[in-house]
Amino acid sequence: MTSSRTPGISRRNFLLGSGLAAAAAAGAGLVGCAPQAPAAAPGADDLAATGEGAATAGEGNVYVSIAEQLNPQDYDYRQNSGDLSQVLSPWKLGNMEFSNRIVKSAAGSNYENGGWDAFVEYYRRLAAGGTEMIWVENFAHIFLPYKNAINANIDEFTDEQVRQLTDAIHAEGAKCGTQTDIMGSAFYKEVSARGGHDAQYFTLEEIDYMVDSYVAAAKKFKAWGFDAWELNCAGNNQTQWFFSKSRNHRDDEYGSQTFENRVRFISRVIDAVHEEVGEDFPIQVLMDAINESDQLIGENAEFNTVEDNIEIAKLLEKAGVASLHMRLGPQEQHATQFLGDLYFDTRGGIGSTSFGGQFDFTRHFQGKLVANHDGCGLMLNLSKMFKDAVSIPVGTVTYLDPAHAPDFMNQAIADGMCDFMMMNRPLTVDPQYVNKLKEGKIDEIRPCTRCCHCWNDTVKGDPYSTEGFGGSCYCCRLDPIRDNVGQEEKGMPGWFDPPAGEGSKNVMVVGAGPAGMEAARIAAERGYTVTLYDKKSSTGGMLSFAAAIKGPHQNLEDYSVWSRADLELKGVNIVTDTEVDAAFIKEQAPDVAILALGGARDSLGLEGDGETNVISIDDIVNAADTIGQNVTIVGGNMQATDVAAYLMEQGKNVTIVTPENANMLAKGQSIWCKRFALPILYAHGMKVWQESELVSAAGGVATVKTATGTETPYACDTVIEAMDMLPNKAMLDELSGIEAYAVGDCDDPYNIEYAIRAGNFCARAI
Ligand SMILES: Cc1cc2nc3c(=O)[nH]c(=O)nc-3n(C[C@H](O)[C@H](O)[C@H](O)COP(=O)(O)O)c2cc1C
Ligand code: SF4
Repeated sequence: MTSSRTPGISRRNFLLGSGLAAAAAAGAGLVGCAPQAPAAAPGADDLAATGEGAATAGEGNVYVSIAEQLNPQDYDYRQNSGDLSQVLSPWKLGNMEFSNRIVKSAAGSNYENGGWDAFVEYYRRLAAGGTEMIWVENFAHIFLPYKNAINANIDEFTDEQVRQLTDAIHAEGAKCGTQTDIMGSAFYKEVSARGGHDAQYFTLEEIDYMVDSYVAAAKKFKAWGFDAWELNCAGNNQTQWFFSKSRNHRDDEYGSQTFENRVRFISRVIDAVHEEVGEDFPIQVLMDAINESDQLIGENAEFNTVEDNIEIAKLLEKAGVASLHMRLGPQEQHATQFLGDLYFDTRGGIGSTSFGGQFDFTRHFQGKLVANHDGCGLMLNLSKMFKDAVSIPVGTVTYLDPAHAPDFMNQAIADGMCDFMMMNRPLTVDPQYVNKLKEGKIDEIRPCTRCCHCWNDTVKGDPYSTEGFGGSCYCCRLDPIRDNVGQEEKGMPGWFDPPAGEGSKNVMVVGAGPAGMEAARIAAERGYTVTLYDKKSSTGGMLSFAAAIKGPHQNLEDYSVWSRADLELKGVNIVTDTEVDAAFIKEQAPDVAILALGGARDSLGLEGDGETNVISIDDIVNAADTIGQNVTIVGGNMQATDVAAYLMEQGKNVTIVTPENANMLAKGQSIWCKRFALPILYAHGMKVWQESELVSAAGGVATVKTATGTETPYACDTVIEAMDMLPNKAMLDELSGIEAYAVGDCDDPYNIEYAIRAGNFCARAI
């Protein structure tokens, strides 16, 4: 690839300082990196491109954050010349032919908890939406008699039941495989009890037993109608334990002394499966392309380099593997294995790690990640290296999203960076993704906003929750049916598509934020006549504010634009610049009124003075020039911590004062985003007064009072009120005689996910 959008250029070289320049030079010799001549710090053009024009800490003083110095981003990768011919070009896997390069990556969906029919329908919809190759998640645990906490055992499924799934996918013209992973699921406890969960703790009998289990499973999967099988040999899977020296200290023929030994176990599986079920059952191996190898902490001799993994890939090809699926291998950091774009989340946290340091992409992963496109196409340089080394098809995953970056993705296929693009989140957010792409309706594709609520969400009543499989996982903040459909106890009315409306109704929705837009969209989809009002001149409510504060990675502007377009497509009458009160609603006499007015802001009742001003969080973008150097943010929710990141990125000193325990900080954020964001805020100097209140702010000083009653004054130029929002639904009481509801922050303030879900569920129920 040759343009500045190329995966081959993973970063621009405007690093500052000799140490950083040396790091850049180290990166320069690496395959795929082609640093340009040193340039100045990001200037006005760069900032303008990201809407970061406010990033100054005083007139004439352009503050350049560590994030910007280490990981400058190019935001020019989203061009769309309308040519998707490469993405929509044919390819083959085994005997199967596909008309485009998009493949659904296996991912736990939780739909099975809504009943098997919901599970089948979820996959059928993906197939109906044009995805031609679907890897179904690991739904059947294969290592019997050992139990697995997540999946039912393979012998608990009937032939008829699974046939229902594969038939449904085939009936839509798609092919399907299923994935088997054994991540901590097969006699993990027994193995760990011997000293650790690494390959050396398997006995030879256990290795034989695993091979037999794979073969028995392959027979079933093939008989059930699956067209292919994916073996997850990446990350923390037991097969990966054999691949890497760091996890394999065996001294027998399965040890890590030679690459042949490392692949011996999986080669045995492949041989035995081929012998038993034939070679017309393609086996795809999912493996780490590279293992994390921080170049500053020793020589990393035990971690697999990309060169090591290429040797393994070659042997896998020789063993008869049909295709390779390449993923990131961060040591033991499971989520970042496939959600690598987390490294780019939170404004100014671009490249943060859970250690709180700024992530220098030249130093990690051998400097081979595409690190200048906000996470988009992160793996492409690496997959190219594998593709060049083997002749079987090579695909990769993570933030491959042709609707988001059409030219970039098209060029990636043209340049042979990968043969196929494994995708998960964007396809689940819009199952019609591929059809829309083919029909040139990119604007109609609901965009994934990379928020990682699907892995994992936080639950409002339980913001401490870090449980992955406790109902707080697999939801989607944009698509409320995920993790709810078929589960009556979760309160979702209806099935996947909302039911047709009952007769004709005039529905009036007041407030065009996320909750109101969703309510209007669903009501219109049901066939009702919908008018959506907003007092502002635009729709989106707080989305553009959130986008400005959170930074570009979460694509919130995209979601706002898509929502508007979808409302228009569905015939919603949008009335802006119109403030609506109860009298107006009564005058219009709608059949149903849905109030989505947004929450109310609380105030501290502190006035401040000329030396310490007190402003609302809502004013921080418009009143940027009134914000001093020493800022106190009152509140500990996600909005408060996002604002902290936004201001620290500008070089401000930030203190948070929260009435809650510090563990509650960033509540409302997805768990992984929180885990990435908070350490970097602390590492960059954010101070937190927990279980405290601000009692005064004037004369350049704020005074905080702790739970023990101690009062402490400290320097403070600006106080930002960012306390939890309060409900704002008094208008409901004035609407007697009208069927009326309040949704979103107006009813129950929390986050976008809760707002959209409330709008959706309400409109389904009217
Ligand atoms: C909720 C969720 C569950 C996942 N479960 C699995 C899984 O069971 N097996 C797997 O190989 N990958 C799993 N993944 C990773 C996805 O297959 C995919 O690699 C990841 O979402 C990155 O692709 P994307 O950027 O297109 O979403 C999961 C991802 C998410 C978000
Ligand atoms: S929860 Fe967020 S990251 Fe996950 S699929 Fe939905 S929009 Fe995308």
